[in-house]
Amino acid sequence: MSDLSKLPPNFTWGVATAAYQIEGAVAEDGRKPSIWDTFCRVPGAVDNGDTGDVACDHYHRWPEDVELMRRLGVGAYRFSVAWPRIVPDGTGTVNPAGLAFYDRLVDALLAAEIRPLVTLYHWDLPQALQDRGGWPERATAEAFAEYAALVAGRLGDRVTDWVTVNEPLCISWIGHLEGRMAPGERDLTRAVATSHHVLLGHGLATAAIRAAASRPAAVGIVLNPSPCQPASDRPEDVAAAVRADGHVNRWWLDPLYGRGYPADMIATYGQEPPVRAGDLETIATPTEFLGLNYYFRQLIVDDPDGPVPYARQIPVPGAVQTAMGWEVYPSGLEELLVSVHQTYAPPRIMVTESGSAWYDEVTPEGGIEDKERTAYLEQHIEACAAAAARGVPIDGYFVWSLLDNFEWAYGYDKRFGLVHVDYATQRRTIKASGLRYAELIREHQRRGGLADRSAR
Ligand code: IFM
Repeated sequence: MSDLSKLPPNFTWGVATAAYQIEGAVAEDGRKPSIWDTFCRVPGAVDNGDTGDVACDHYHRWPEDVELMRRLGVGAYRFSVAWPRIVPDGTGTVNPAGLAFYDRLVDALLAAEIRPLVTLYHWDLPQALQDRGGWPERATAEAFAEYAALVAGRLGDRVTDWVTVNEPLCISWIGHLEGRMAPGERDLTRAVATSHHVLLGHGLATAAIRAAASRPAAVGIVLNPSPCQPASDRPEDVAAAVRADGHVNRWWLDPLYGRGYPADMIATYGQEPPVRAGDLETIATPTEFLGLNYYFRQLIVDDPDGPVPYARQIPVPGAVQTAMGWEVYPSGLEELLVSVHQTYAPPRIMVTESGSAWYDEVTPEGGIEDKERTAYLEQHIEACAAAAARGVPIDGYFVWSLLDNFEWAYGYDKRFGLVHVDYATQRRTIKASGLRYAELIREHQRRGGLADRSAR
């Protein structure tokens, strides 16, 4: 393990989850359906027909989960608020029981000296809003800002750190273009409109959070960029990698950092996003940090007859792959951190998700010796340290995920947790990787890093 002291002293060691992936209790205390409740009912949409109905039952077991985090020694917890618990119809009537749930959670986290990082949208759009058109409609961005203000008004006396939206790419391209995630659409025009309204929603929510929170708020968006590399020197592959980079990275980063939508991608899509006067300024509202979720790089070949952006990701020959079929490529994280820093210069960057799924086995003694996940973790933390040594203002790392959980269209077979969940009994067991993470946190603190707690 390389020198952890390269990481700043106030480095935040965190874990992350998302509401629909862990909470369960989908019909309790006034929550109404989200697009994921609906999508899970589409035959064949989710592996094994799994749903988030129960998930990790975190809605009832959250005190145990907070205690697990305290035992791991994490300084921060990134979780998401379920919009359909707070405003079950998307707009209008507010559900006090929904707000009360997150209120209790925040209090418990603070009592355990764990800093909450609250994500407002991690894909669970109220179904009622989808019925009125969903993200392709501008009104959804406006509704999102209203909901954000409500949550910030309630929690913003104790919560400092806010993420507006998680992974606009997945919402737009996977949910509305490829149809592999809720709401399962396959329509380029609606996908491009979604991308704009999600970014607009981020900008509107940023202002709304700042206005509603009673303590100064640090706000950011979370993206999931990938380094896109041509698979060969062929000019066609090189050009395809530029398009893939545009689709995956620049389409989001350029407007967020005041450059507008990239012209080459507007040409590739053959259409403009539905931008109105002032939208680009709203989207480029300065934020306190940028969150990056990193999982893999993309090796790209030209695919002229394929779908937009006519560039296809191919497997990397000889690569070590996780259970998701994703290449383990830690230097991609360093590369990404350095290039985002050099190109866009966000004031701070946090790795808001990093983690891996493996086929974990429970030993006869009941432990989980997940060597691959442990190695993955160490290598990616090293990549953060290397980026910090190159001047990247990285000040946090959040493991995806605290718990094994509902991995969207892959259901429960893909396990990302530092903590194993036996779904039949809901028993939680800290894996070897979790114990190693706890050790790394202590090591950083011993070597002069402040405990996150003292940074607060
Ligand atoms: O589980 C997801 C998470 O919800 C968003 N980022 C990627 C993770 C792993 O696929």
